[in-house]
Amino acid sequence: MAIARLFEQATGQTLSQDRFWRIGTTLTPFCKARCIESFDHLALALERGLDRGLSLDMIDALLNNETSFFRDAGVFTQLSEALLPRLAAAREREKRIRIWSAACSTGQEAYSLAMLFAEQRERWAGWRIDIVGSDISRSAIEQARDGLYTQFEVQRGLPIRQLIAWFDPVLDQGWRAKPQLASYVTFQRHNLLGPPPAGGRFDLILCRNALLYFSAERRHQMLEGLSLAIAQDGGLLLGAGETVQGSTRFVADSELPMVYRPAGARGLSHARSGSEQAQSASSSNDQALSVRHGRDHRLPVAQS
Ligand SMILES: C[S@@+](CC[C@H](N)C(=O)[O-])C[C@H]1O[C@@H](n2cnc3c(N)ncnc32)[C@H](O)[C@@H]1O
Repeated sequence: MAIARLFEQATGQTLSQDRFWRIGTTLTPFCKARCIESFDHLALALERGLDRGLSLDMIDALLNNETSFFRDAGVFTQLSEALLPRLAAAREREKRIRIWSAACSTGQEAYSLAMLFAEQRERWAGWRIDIVGSDISRSAIEQARDGLYTQFEVQRGLPIRQLIAWFDPVLDQGWRAKPQLASYVTFQRHNLLGPPPAGGRFDLILCRNALLYFSAERRHQMLEGLSLAIAQDGGLLLGAGETVQGSTRFVADSELPMVYRPAGARGLSHARSGSEQAQSASSSNDQALSVRHGRDHRLPVAQS
């Protein structure tokens, strides 16, 4: 089916036969709202490629953007009680932490991470904390940047105390993240099958509940990409039920469930010396360059 093919070209996701129902339930109102007579007419318009907005909207409509604040609460407990203290010890000298919330949908995960830091302002005084949220969906990233959530969305996972502390009510619309909270996060459109976001390696990458939509080959490709984006002693968090199976780039952390670290690395519990850091930075650049110039057969990067 042409629509499924176009969706796969753009996102790398396969709409298998058992997910075809999604095309019907999602695209019937989509076509109606745009006065498009049938799926055949839609497919024709998409194939002509004259309306880029139409194809981006169609892709967005077919993506599953399910998310919530503090999704899987145990992950956030683990972050605040184990991973962030480890990271703080390892980065005591640089006082800089970069976190990537990959496939972040409408941004709730990135803002949940930001709250962990914002609520410990004194602990993190003098540190530079950068949280980058990314997703392939244009509309999801627009909402994340706006930081505006409906009453329904904030009721999913955000305790009332944190809602009041970190969000301002917006009449008839919902709640918007306060500038203080938003200052921790930036958002960009990004395809997980493309090169990682610019700006250096990430100390932590959360890529949860996204890999499960892809074939084993695509998952492998994505894990390759994530391995180029992560610091040598960094941590990767996947969703419950997701694993790095099939990839030689990551191994399970021996102490923390659902956390993976780069294969061959020593893990966050060991602070690195200056010369080790310089070495790791130069070898990571070489690795990244070899992918960009060599076997880079990935899909195009999504543009903001
Ligand atoms: C089910 S949501 C998960 C959101 C969040 N990570 C969480 O766990 O709550 C999956 C997200 O993956 C995004 N996605 C799908 N294909 C992608 C791709 N090729 N690159 C980047 N993001 C993608 C979707 O747009 C969607 O927002």
